Amino acid sequence: APAILNNRPRVLVTRRWPQTVEAELAERFDTVFNVEDRPMSAEDFRDALGKFDAILPTVTDGLGSEAMDVSEARTRILANYGVGFSHIDTDAAKKLGIAVTNTPDVLSECTADLAMTLMLMVARRAGEGERELRAGQWTGWRPTHLVGAKVSGKVLGIVGFGRIGQAMAQRAHFGFGMKILVQNRSRVAQDVLDRYNAVQVDTIEDLLPQCDFVSLHCPGGAANRHLINSHRLDLMKPGAFLINTARGEVIDEHALAQALMFDCIGGAALDVFDGEPKVAPILLDCDNLVMLPHLGSATEETRTAMGMRVLDNLVDFFEGRTPGDQVA
Ligand code: DGY
Repeated sequence: APAILNNRPRVLVTRRWPQTVEAELAERFDTVFNVEDRPMSAEDFRDALGKFDAILPTVTDGLGSEAMDVSEARTRILANYGVGFSHIDTDAAKKLGIAVTNTPDVLSECTADLAMTLMLMVARRAGEGERELRAGQWTGWRPTHLVGAKVSGKVLGIVGFGRIGQAMAQRAHFGFGMKILVQNRSRVAQDVLDRYNAVQVDTIEDLLPQCDFVSLHCPGGAANRHLINSHRLDLMKPGAFLINTARGEVIDEHALAQALMFDCIGGAALDVFDGEPKVAPILLDCDNLVMLPHLGSATEETRTAMGMRVLDNLVDFFEGRTPGDQVA
């Protein structure tokens, strides 16, 4: 569009992106890439807020109150590459007149696929088995070897029934014949629940004691910090499994490690960590825990689609339309 070509906004991309999207960005905008692909500091951000019309951050960029502590900004939009945006201080953005967008929808299927992967891995002890085999300790088939828990037909509790929670329900219900219970901050429309034969309960306390598996799909941030704490872990069935592809801070990891070590629950599987990429050392001592390095959306197709979605949001914004994915 002429408005963009004649007066190209200055755009900062904080990490490396799939090549096709980087090329599109460079074509449309006056784009600066963080070629070192390292997370930026609060100071870097304060500086960037004065120099760029748009900043395209990711979950590794802490855009909290410290990074946003400037009196005025040239930046007019933070177009986040990712659906979760709890790393961005949206109140500070609002005060500075900066819009915030995210990338929903395009990553729901792959994130739910990864949650299924984790659920199957932990229930069927796949991580333990692989570690044993690679260590040359496999002595052969035997009836009692690495016996896990059956997944098909069991009860799955889904905490947070947005797009990803629903994609999880679809897989679990149609693929594995699981019974779905849902806990969500607002009431879910009956026709949506009916699609998966799901039942909504009022509170997380109602949900936990009934489930063989619990999968977290709620947002992170202060409101959900340590939503899963020692009290709530105690409410889970002995032998039940906890899966987290949402945000690390939703679980009190020390309470989880205790629950795992004392076999209060059957196991857990985490794709996200509080303070990642650091992983609390106590977690590394838990055998009945599967851990992946934040891979929920990590497929070629999805990472490209996420970039294209950011691009759409930027084009809308700079052509004077409200971006479809504006969250603040
Ligand atoms: C997301 O999209 O929220 C991923 O966790 C990466 O930010």
